[in-house]
Amino acid sequence: MDAPSVIRTKRDRGELTDAQIDWVIDAYTRGDVADEQMSALAMAILLNGMNLREISRWTDAMIRSGVRMDFSALGVPTSDKHSTGGVGDKITLPLAPLVAACGVAVPQLSGRGLGHTGGTLDKLESIPGWRALLSNDEMMRVLQDTGAVICAAGDGLAPADKKLYALRDVTGTVEAIPLIASSIMSKKIAEGTGSLVLDVKVGSGAFMKNLADAQELARTMVGLGTNAGVNTVALLTDMSTPLGLTAGNALEVRESVEVLAGGGPADVVELTLALAREMLAAAGVHGKDPADALRDGSAMDHWRRMIAAQGGDPDAALPVAKEQHVVTASATGVLTGLDAYAVGVCAWRLGAGRARKDHPVQAGAGVEIHAKPGENVTAGQPLLTLHTDTPERYDYAIEALAGGIEISDPGTGFAPMPIVLDR
Ligand code: URA
Repeated sequence: MDAPSVIRTKRDRGELTDAQIDWVIDAYTRGDVADEQMSALAMAILLNGMNLREISRWTDAMIRSGVRMDFSALGVPTSDKHSTGGVGDKITLPLAPLVAACGVAVPQLSGRGLGHTGGTLDKLESIPGWRALLSNDEMMRVLQDTGAVICAAGDGLAPADKKLYALRDVTGTVEAIPLIASSIMSKKIAEGTGSLVLDVKVGSGAFMKNLADAQELARTMVGLGTNAGVNTVALLTDMSTPLGLTAGNALEVRESVEVLAGGGPADVVELTLALAREMLAAAGVHGKDPADALRDGSAMDHWRRMIAAQGGDPDAALPVAKEQHVVTASATGVLTGLDAYAVGVCAWRLGAGRARKDHPVQAGAGVEIHAKPGENVTAGQPLLTLHTDTPERYDYAIEALAGGIEISDPGTGFAPMPIVLDR
């Protein structure tokens, strides 16, 4: 077998055989297929697609490139949630301890932000002392002791995906449904969770900008999970405007703690509870209302124990950016648009995100939102507060908001998008 013939098959719109897929993933992981050859193949897949058999085999080959974890020794059902990425999407933070408080263990392997979307590990690292890197033994211990663990995936888990994702990121080949589906599902299946709830984001701040593409991605991933014996469900949720009132690392931790304390913005609470209900049902736990665990403090208790078990101090003050700058409403009327992508890029430029995988992020940087679409606003009132340690970047950050804030005439009717668009 050789790489050029595999590339030619897909370039000429052919179907890759199981043997070709197994060979190319294995040879790429070992370094026998070069990055330039794999990027040519990834571009051919982006342009010409793969059928379900090919996607399934590709996913399986990526799982077989590394180790598989097993949580059966825990003796309780397990469930995980994966979001395809958005702006202000801090849901994992309150969700994992909430589901744990309802008796389902949550082994949550999470990632870092890249580009305009935030990453769960970057957010949690703003808590003084908290560690994302755990050995497999440590991960198991935290899970046993606290019912939930949120940590980085070890190097052994789907290493083919780790290499391929980094390559796709710099070769314009991220946005291919077969490659996104196999990338996400290879990690989730290898992780060994018993059930999985996918939060497939739709809208300007998401990879999938329209409902039809998001439905295709969701169906593909649910099919891959189900065939691998993982009880998998997908919700399609709105990402046309940021979730909640914050986008940025420490800012989002603060908001998540508010949710765990029984408060927090209505959209964050609604989506957290919707995903928690799906996770409990997928894990076979019925008759428990996760809203009770927010009310009675048990979700907060699990959060505190989970953070402490990973070296964090749940009582420590969170970092605050050195400077703040308020963006005001330019007119009086109804706020009819606050674009997720614009706010995400703004937060990223303020220092909340990174331009390269090895860059640090600013813990305190980001955007605080004072009005949500549908609210009446008055000219001059604060709409956003921008937080950063590098105020020389304000102009660059504010440029990202151009066209992203829409104020319509007073009295204009506005129907906000529902949070959950489809299941
Ligand atoms: N997240 C992943 O893990 N992989 C992708 O391809 C896209 C989002």
